[in-house]
Amino acid sequence: MDAKGKIALVTGATKGIGYETARALGALGATVLVGARDAERGAAAAAALRERGADARALRLDVTDPATAEAAAHLVQERHGHLDILVNNAGINIEWPARQPSEATLHDLRTTMETNVFGVSTVTNALLPLLRAAAAGRIVNVSSEMGVPAWLSGTQMPAMTAYSLSKAALNMLTVLYANELRDSSVKVNACSPGFVVTDINRGAGVLTAQEGARIVVDLATLDEDGPAGVFLNDAGPVSW
Ligand SMILES: NC(=O)c1ccc[n+]([C@@H]2O[C@H](COP(=O)([O-])OP(=O)(O)OC[C@H]3O[C@@H](n4cnc5c(N)ncnc54)[C@H](OP(=O)(O)O)[C@@H]3O)[C@@H](O)[C@H]2O)c1
Repeated sequence: MDAKGKIALVTGATKGIGYETARALGALGATVLVGARDAERGAAAAAALRERGADARALRLDVTDPATAEAAAHLVQERHGHLDILVNNAGINIEWPARQPSEATLHDLRTTMETNVFGVSTVTNALLPLLRAAAAGRIVNVSSEMGVPAWLSGTQMPAMTAYSLSKAALNMLTVLYANELRDSSVKVNACSPGFVVTDINRGAGVLTAQEGARIVVDLATLDEDGPAGVFLNDAGPVSW
């Protein structure tokens, strides 16, 4: 794998899987734009990545704010003229404790969809012209098996209704973008990082963020022969 000379933008790269994805892409030689809704947290993450040898710069980007997505696209256009890799990683899960569908609140449903789905659409659409301008654009949507009906059906998993709904919609968005871009040089895929110890699950995961980022980086650095419109975890394809 090699990302030398590539321009990569990772949303929600201040911590967790996003930060580790940015670190790994930086280690492979990419210039990494550290997407962050909070400028200070973004600057701190970018500085930490630079200390670890990456060519990293903070980029203010709140995925729920279309103005910041447009501003980010403008900046990337001015500085680089194209974007090779977009990792739609930013995500939230605000249902604590986990909520059955009968207990879900409209507030949680709306807020979660705003970030995990509409945010991906906003950011992708703002940056798509720059990805099309790249020789081989790659979009990776960081999803979850929690958004796969076939995986959840009949299990005893505690329901996280808003989160599952949002990741199911993100999976569909991935397929739709992949279909739209099939005849272009841009490949769109989804992945699941596995159950990773991060703030999103209050540290309940089992994998490290570095381990979780592996599949994200694999899809971000796919070569010409790589797939489009697939959903992968570390073990291989996840059936939608
Ligand atoms: N951890 C797991 O087990 C697991 C499993 C499957 C999928 N995932 C997915 O992996 C992705 C990363 O999650 P994580 O586990 O690394 O969680 P995390 O440590 O909580 O990181 C989430 C990141 O998203 C950012 N973010 C949240 N809302 C944002 C917004 N409106 N605009 C821009 N950035 C925003 C956060 O920024 P702040 O620093 O500003 O809060 C943070 O950088 C998510 O999409 C999640 O659904 C995680």
